[in-house]
Amino acid sequence: MIYFSIIIFMLSPLHGVKDSFYEHGSINSFAYRQLPALHWCQGLQWRSPPSPYVVALASFPGSGNTWLRYLLQQATGIVTGSIYMDYGLRVHGFPAENVTDGSVLVVKTHEAPPISPNKFKSALLLIRNPKDAILADFNRVHKGHIGTAPKSAFKKKSYNREESDWSYYVASQLTAWESLHRLWLTRFPGPVHVVFYETLVSDTRSTLQGVLDFLNRTVSEAEMNCAISLKEGIYRRKKKIKNFDPYTPEMYKAIRIARDRVFNIVADYQSKRTNTTRRYNNID
Ligand SMILES: *[C@@H]1O[C@H](CO)[C@@H](O)[C@H](O)[C@H]1NC(C)=O
Ligand SMILES: *[C@@H]1O[C@H](CO)[C@@H](O)[C@H](O)[C@H]1NC(C)=O
Ligand SMILES: *[C@@H]1O[C@H](CO)[C@@H](O)[C@H](O)[C@H]1NC(C)=O
Repeated sequence: MIYFSIIIFMLSPLHGVKDSFYEHGSINSFAYRQLPALHWCQGLQWRSPPSPYVVALASFPGSGNTWLRYLLQQATGIVTGSIYMDYGLRVHGFPAENVTDGSVLVVKTHEAPPISPNKFKSALLLIRNPKDAILADFNRVHKGHIGTAPKSAFKKKSYNREESDWSYYVASQLTAWESLHRLWLTRFPGPVHVVFYETLVSDTRSTLQGVLDFLNRTVSEAEMNCAISLKEGIYRRKKKIKNFDPYTPEMYKAIRIARDRVFNIVADYQSKRTNTTRRYNNID
């Protein structure tokens, strides 16, 4: 069976704790030069006039943030920004790296909601199941953007540790995964639109439409059709079928528990929001 995975989601930038793994970032930028040119449905433009409101596109690393940016740029022709500067992305279709104002459609972030309440007016929260997100980011860290980490990377053990570095990594990433989503759903004052990565993959058109509705953007059917026809981008590759699963039963259990807690917060958030909208509509 051939099923695709979109590698573009692995194109996470230099930031925070990842920096130490990422000294070879410039090598990854070289790799981009081998890529074929991106084809855009329409010429990319800056938002004009700039919006006074900035919308965050928040996600845990490895969750498809760059892919959603790509789809939004295809559908609207408007550039998307980022709180990071990824030079590789900047020369390959994302000219607004390191732009965080209203001249872009949305602004990528992997951070918790900012303390300053005026930074973002609203947020898209892109959630991928932690098992795949953590593995995608581990692969990126260990093998750059297009490969997968070798088996040995999962076995490596630092001298002072009982368990493999991978198992510490999974535990700490899982905690970070849960807390990122919890913070955006409970501490961010503006409206949050949740997008599940898995739904974006399985039903790209209507999930993308939901995002555009949240952004108050209207696109023509032709624009949407074009975006969908190019949805796989240039970073598509066949996923290798590996008979190797790096997750242990204990890790699966921890993942399930964290995931269920976050899904419950999402469900709470959405029911509250529905009630608010209903009340609002009634007043109207
Ligand atoms: C990012 O943008 C800020 C201000 O807009 C600028 O000061 C900074 O140098 C830029 N960073 C990079 C890496 O280009
Ligand atoms: C979309 O429009 C609604 C209603 O006018 C407004 O409250 C909301 O802030 C807008 N959202 C964005 C992202 O501009
Ligand atoms: C939302 O409304 C439903 C039914 O009207 C109610 O059961 C639920 O408790 C409400 N949720 C909140 C958070 O108010």
